Amino acid sequence: MYDQACEVLPGGISRNVVFRKPHPFYVSEASGAYVTDIHGVKRIDFANNIASLIHGHAHPKIVEAVCEQIKRGTAYTLGTEVEIEHARLLCDRVPGFDKIRFMNSGTEAVMAMIKAARAYTGKPKIAKAEGGYHGSFDTAEVSQSSSPANWGDIDHPNSVAHVKGTPKAVLDNVVIYHYNDIERTLRILDENAAEIACVLLDPVPHRIGMVSATPEFVEALYNWTRKNNALLCFDEVICFRSAYEGAQSNYKVKPDLTSLGKIIGGGFPIGAFAGRKDIMNILDPGGNDFRFALSGTFSANPVSMTAGKIAMEMFDRDAVEKLNSFSQIAINQIYEAGKVAGIPLSITGKGSMFKVHFRETPPTTYRDCYEDATLKNIMNLFLDKMYEEGIIMINSCSCTLSTVITQKEIDVLSEAMLSSFRHIKPHLKA
Ligand SMILES: Cc1ncc(COP(=O)(O)O)c(C=O)c1O
Repeated sequence: MYDQACEVLPGGISRNVVFRKPHPFYVSEASGAYVTDIHGVKRIDFANNIASLIHGHAHPKIVEAVCEQIKRGTAYTLGTEVEIEHARLLCDRVPGFDKIRFMNSGTEAVMAMIKAARAYTGKPKIAKAEGGYHGSFDTAEVSQSSSPANWGDIDHPNSVAHVKGTPKAVLDNVVIYHYNDIERTLRILDENAAEIACVLLDPVPHRIGMVSATPEFVEALYNWTRKNNALLCFDEVICFRSAYEGAQSNYKVKPDLTSLGKIIGGGFPIGAFAGRKDIMNILDPGGNDFRFALSGTFSANPVSMTAGKIAMEMFDRDAVEKLNSFSQIAINQIYEAGKVAGIPLSITGKGSMFKVHFRETPPTTYRDCYEDATLKNIMNLFLDKMYEEGIIMINSCSCTLSTVITQKEIDVLSEAMLSSFRHIKPHLKA
C-alpha cells in the first residue's frame, strides 16, 4: 500500500503525523479505544487522531446520530437547527463565549481569530510564543520550528519562516515572545505596542513542552493588552479538553477571543472561534459594525455539528473530571515505571493530556525543551517500541486520553512504558 501511496501522494501521506519509517501503518477498523491495522494487529489508541476523539472511535451514539443526519443531507446553502444548538451548548458552557463562529479546522479557527483581532483593533501585527504551534496559517506558523541555528538573541527572538518563501511582510508582522518570561515578553511587546492587534497564547502548548502558562504570565499579558488597545487571544484547539470550561478556567483573567477545534467536532472536521459580543459582531453582515466577511463552503455543516454537539453533551463536568483523574492515575503509574526502569523522567501536561520527557526536571521554555536530532532519534526508538507493545502515542511522546479508556488500558500503557524505557535506557545520558 505504501508503494502505491508514494506514486500519488508526496511521501505516501496526506498529513505529516502519519509518516513513519520505514512506512506508515494502514488501518482496517477502529472501535472504542482500539485500532486494528490491515495485518489484524490491534493497538490501544492514546493519540485519538491528535487529541480530537474525546470518546474514542465510532462511539455508538455519535454514529447513530450522524447516520440519521447523512440520510437527510450533508451540507446545504441554508442554516440548520443543529448549528444553533451546538453554538448554544458551547456559549452556555464558557462564561466568556458570548457568540461563536464555526469553520472546518483549527488552522482556520486561529486564522479567523487573528483576522478578527486585526479588523477590530485596526492594527496589523500579532505576538506569539517562540515554538508555539497554531496550525498552518502562515502568520500563525512563524517561529513554530525555530532552531538554535536561527532563533537569535533571547531578548529579541527572530521571526523565523516555517516554510521557505514566506513573504518578509508576514515575518515583519509577527512579534515573537519568550513563553512564560514576563520581563522579556513585556519589553518586546512594548517595543511594538502601537502595531499589535493581539497576543496569541496556547496556555498548554504541546510544542513548548506541554508546560502550562503561569497565572502571572497570563495576567501580565492580559494587563498589557488592556493598556495597549490589543486583544488577548487563546488557542484552545487542543487544551479546551483539559477542564470543563477549557484551560482558561484556570486563570483569573479571561481571553477576549478563543479558538477551538478537535473535540468539539465529535470526530469530524471542525474549528471555531468564540468570545466577546462586541468583537464577534464585526462578523455580522447585517449589523452596524460589519468589518469582517467570512465564508467557508463546509463551515457548520450538519454532520460536524451533529457529532460535535453529542460529543460535547457527553463530555459533561463528571466526564471531564473522571477522565482527568484517569490521566493522573496513568501519570503516577508511568512515573513508577520510570523508577523501576531507572531512567530520568518527567511528565508535563494538563487534564487528559500529558507528555513524557526523558529528563529529571521538566522543561520550562521552548529553548529548554528543543528536540535536537539525537533526542528525536531516542523519541522515535521509544515510539516504535511502544507501537510494538500495542500502544499508539502522538509522535511528540504525548498521550491524549478518551473517555472509553479503562484501568485495563492504563495498565497496558504503563507496562508498555516500562519495556520501552528499558529499551531506550542505553541511549539516555546518566
Ligand atoms: C494548538 C493548536 N492550534 C491549532 C491547530 C490546528 O488545528 P487543525 O489541525 O485542525 O488545523 C492545532 C493542531 O494540532 C493545535 O494543536
